[in-house]
Amino acid sequence: MSIVQKTETTAKLRCIACGSTPDSVGQDFRCAACGDLLEFFFPEWALSRPGEDARRSTDTDPAALKALWLSRRTSREGLDQSGVWRFRELLPHIPAAHVITLGEGNTPLYHLPRCARAAGVENLRAKHQGVNPTASFKDTGMTFAASSAHQGKFRWVACASTGNTSASMAAYAARGNMHSLVLIPEGQISWGKLSQALDYGALTCQLRTDFDGCVRILTDLVRQKPVYLLNSVNPYRIEGQKTAAIELMEQLAWEPPDHIIVPGGNLGNSSAIGKALLEMRELRLISRLPKLSIIQAQGANPFYRCVHEFGGKKLEPMKADTLASAIRIGNPASWKKALRVLQATGGEVEQVTEVEIAAAKAEIGGDGIGCEPASAVTLAGLKKLRRSGFVKPSEAVVLILTGHLLKDPDFTIKFHRGELFTGTPAETEAVQAKSLQRAPVVLDADLGAVIAALDAAERNS
Ligand code: F0G
Repeated sequence: MSIVQKTETTAKLRCIACGSTPDSVGQDFRCAACGDLLEFFFPEWALSRPGEDARRSTDTDPAALKALWLSRRTSREGLDQSGVWRFRELLPHIPAAHVITLGEGNTPLYHLPRCARAAGVENLRAKHQGVNPTASFKDTGMTFAASSAHQGKFRWVACASTGNTSASMAAYAARGNMHSLVLIPEGQISWGKLSQALDYGALTCQLRTDFDGCVRILTDLVRQKPVYLLNSVNPYRIEGQKTAAIELMEQLAWEPPDHIIVPGGNLGNSSAIGKALLEMRELRLISRLPKLSIIQAQGANPFYRCVHEFGGKKLEPMKADTLASAIRIGNPASWKKALRVLQATGGEVEQVTEVEIAAAKAEIGGDGIGCEPASAVTLAGLKKLRRSGFVKPSEAVVLILTGHLLKDPDFTIKFHRGELFTGTPAETEAVQAKSLQRAPVVLDADLGAVIAALDAAERNS
């Protein structure tokens, strides 16, 4: 079975390696000629290139688009209320009858004053993609790709996941009356995420392997069964996830920050945000590019090694290991796309330790925001990029927080109780994070005991 591309706009698919432009694709979303990944491009936008103003299509006039998107913020129409579909002029066309939306996007941009002081920058903000309907950034890509599955009349959708993709997919499939199949590594995803997939009615298979093993099985499965693949190799996912960057620029009055920092796992998100930045500059919605930097956990750092050890020439898959289970990924599918946007924007790749991640997470919590461990690599990475001089104190920085604090309460509770690193090689390094720990205090039901606890806390504050 092949997925036929029917678009009213001029979006076309193109292979990122050999450049071929197929009219339809197989269910694995790979290039039939060379096997690499596909991406959407918009041939009509070429008309708005510098020097060709006279021929510029009114559909891509930057001022008109900005005004249109802003006006939709007060619209009562379902599509306009989604922070993804609101920007539909920059997305391939999917007829409204097929759209599955939960009102995703529209996520807040917060100042992080305490984190800014800790990192040594003056202007630090976080765009919190964990404030989406299923509490992770995946919803922006999922609304778009699930709608494409609906348009293709698929009964089943499927993904391999470290947890958030599966939660998001299961929700959107349920809303669109489709069945969903989830492949997750047994014992390696948080209960919060697993419980979401169950409640949203997915067929949830816990495989005795890691995330990369789940991907291998799923890739073979979609070649045999009429099942629609919803991992981020699916280029519709990337298109939906682009809107986080568009919305961010709108929130910043189209004045780009100097740096955007994202976590790197399978590298779909960084690819999507980078693609959006490049497209926005092409359409002159922004006048310059922020540097897009990608942060990995040291124990799951194949992209870091790709860039720093192999000069971007190859990616060597590895056995990944980190407590930030969302990014425990050893063979990221979208590494070539991520490399391209990293180079195009002049960003950096950093790696951070387990203790650095845990400390950064508690610091983000200390600003009243909170996030899941994988998101906290951004702050930990920023500190390193400040120390290396790549980020200057006066530069404006935006962190992309990808998941909600409540996705992984186990991690948080163990950290504050001082148990997270017990018996691990990080036990000695963990002493550095002690001052950030706030273990719960167990007391008798006695007013005097509570007052004594309050007074002690006041003295230490
Ligand atoms: N942050 C969170 C909270 C995630 O869930 C993921 C990926 C990432 C960061 C990394 O994003 O893969 O686009 O580079 N989670 C996937 C999943 C893989 O299955 O939920 P990426």
